[in-house]
Order: sequence, then C-alpha cells, then structure tokens
Amino acid sequence: MKRSYIFLATQRKRHHNIMTSPVLFARNINVTLGGNPILKNVSLNMPKGSLKVLIGPSGAGKSTFLQTLNYLIPYDSGKLELHGKVVDVDNKKELYAYRQQVGMIFQDFNLFDHLNAIDNVAIALRKVKGMKKSEANIRAMAELTRVGLEEKGDLYPAELSGGQKQRVAIARALAMDPTVLLLDEPTSALDPELVGEVLSVIRDLTKAGLTMVMATHQMDFARALAHEIVFMQDGEIIEQGSPAELLREGSKTRTGDFCARLEMSIDEE
Ligand SMILES: Nc1ncnc2c1ncn2[C@@H]1O[C@H](COP(=O)(O)OP(=O)(O)OP(=O)(O)O)[C@@H](O)[C@H]1O
Ligand SMILES: [Mg+2]
Repeated sequence: MKRSYIFLATQRKRHHNIMTSPVLFARNINVTLGGNPILKNVSLNMPKGSLKVLIGPSGAGKSTFLQTLNYLIPYDSGKLELHGKVVDVDNKKELYAYRQQVGMIFQDFNLFDHLNAIDNVAIALRKVKGMKKSEANIRAMAELTRVGLEEKGDLYPAELSGGQKQRVAIARALAMDPTVLLLDEPTSALDPELVGEVLSVIRDLTKAGLTMVMATHQMDFARALAHEIVFMQDGEIIEQGSPAELLREGSKTRTGDFCARLEMSIDEE
C-alpha cells in the first residue's frame, strides 16, 4: 500500500498535476523494415490526460512508432498494454477493439473526397458503432461544432481549407470516443496561417483531458502544452522529460540543441 503511494507521488511530481494511471504502455518495441532496424527497444508510458510530444530529425522513427502504437505497423518484439492489460495483437477481434480506442490523425487528413464533412465523421459511427443515420449525423454535428465547423457540415473536402480538413479529421477521430489519440505532424501540411486553428483545437483537447501522443515540429506549442517531450533519433528515445527540464535556458540537452537548430532554419526561410 505504502509503496504504491510513493510510486504515485513521484509520478505525479514528474507529470505536473495530471492523473497518472497509465492508459497505454508500449514496452520494448522493436521494428525492422526492409531488413533495417527502425525502432530499437522503444518504450513509452502514457498516463491518463497526458500530452507527449515526439520530436527528432527526419527518419528518426516518429511516424513508425506512432503507427506501431495502433499496430498499423507490426512489431517484431515488444508489447502494448492498454489499461494494464497486454493487447493480444494476434487475436483479430481484440486488435480490432483496441484500434477503435486508439485514434490516429495523419499529416494529410485522409478524408473521403466523395463525402461531405458530416458524412466523413458519421460514416464510422454507422459502420463501426452501428448507429442509425439520424443518430450518427447528430453526433457528427456535435463533433464538428466542437472543432468550430458547425457551418461547414455540407461541404466536401475540396471545398474546405487545409486547416478545416484537418479539423474534420479530428472530429472524425473524436466521434469514436478514443482512449488515446495519436497525431502525426497534424499541422505540417498546412499553410502557416492555418496552423493556429488546428493547434487551438488540440489545445482544447489537452484541457479536456484526452491522452495524446503527437509528433510535431511546433516547438512553441510543445513548450507550452506538452507534459513531456520525447526526443527520438535513429530509432531510439534519446531524451525524455518535461519542457522545463529539457529546454531550460542554458541546459545542454540534445532536445535544446535540436530546437535551437530548428528555430535557426525557420528564421532562414
Ligand atoms: N516500409 C519501409 N521499409 C524500409 N524502411 C522504412 C519503411 N518505412 C520507413 N522506413 C525507414 O524508417 C525510418 C524512420 O522513418 P519514419 O517515417 O518513422 O521517420 P520520422 O521520424 O517520422 O521522419 P519525418 O520527420 O521525416 O516524418 C526511415 O529511415 C525510413 O527510411
Ligand atoms: Mg514522420
């Protein structure tokens, strides 16, 4: 009893004030692609309500890791635990149920071009959750409203801006009531003036207590909102800690070094 109290106390300290029961735990994940080791013993613990931001150079393995987290990319060894229970990825039914709880947002939105915004959100509610059309549409409108698109429901992807498309994609993921949301550079395909509206939706989700892992180069956002920054390089996690720990003025961390170079390259543009 006492031990678990101490464990919780240290965890709390590390993660500010967020609740700390691990929702998802990826343990010792190894992935080989095309004969090359791409992820090497990567472990990540996602406490409830935490936002972890993945950063690192191109080719570090961030996208591979995110896709491994919902088993779009299978791993050679390691395990995924949801609420403390190992996911049996070889059991189709269990894997399907797991995937429903782990939402994914991609850089390029992945919307259905032949469906309007409402139907893009409603289709999974009907097909996966078995909702009636009217019920699915009501829920879809609620999620579109949550991301500020209550007036755009009838529009098709071609009629929406990049930022709006990405917000539809987020609404679609939220409609499934995900336990964890994975975001792979959700703003990097957007014109600079559209980045803010998507980040602001993600900011609202952190406030609502959604558990998220996000790969991004938006360091101001990470600094302000990440509970933890996870720095990856060559398929490994090299550093991990709060923005305050890793980005303190004058601290000699790989993360700080990387950010300084990132900011320099943005200034040069
Ligand atoms: N199907 C594949 N076969 C072989 N190698 C692959 C495959 N997919 C990815 N890789 C390699 O895995 C490494 C990690 O790629 P990944 O896309 O995960 O990096 P990343 O950190 O997301 O990079 P970026 O910042 O550019 O998005 C790269 O070296 C890439 O070439
Ligand atoms: Mg990537």
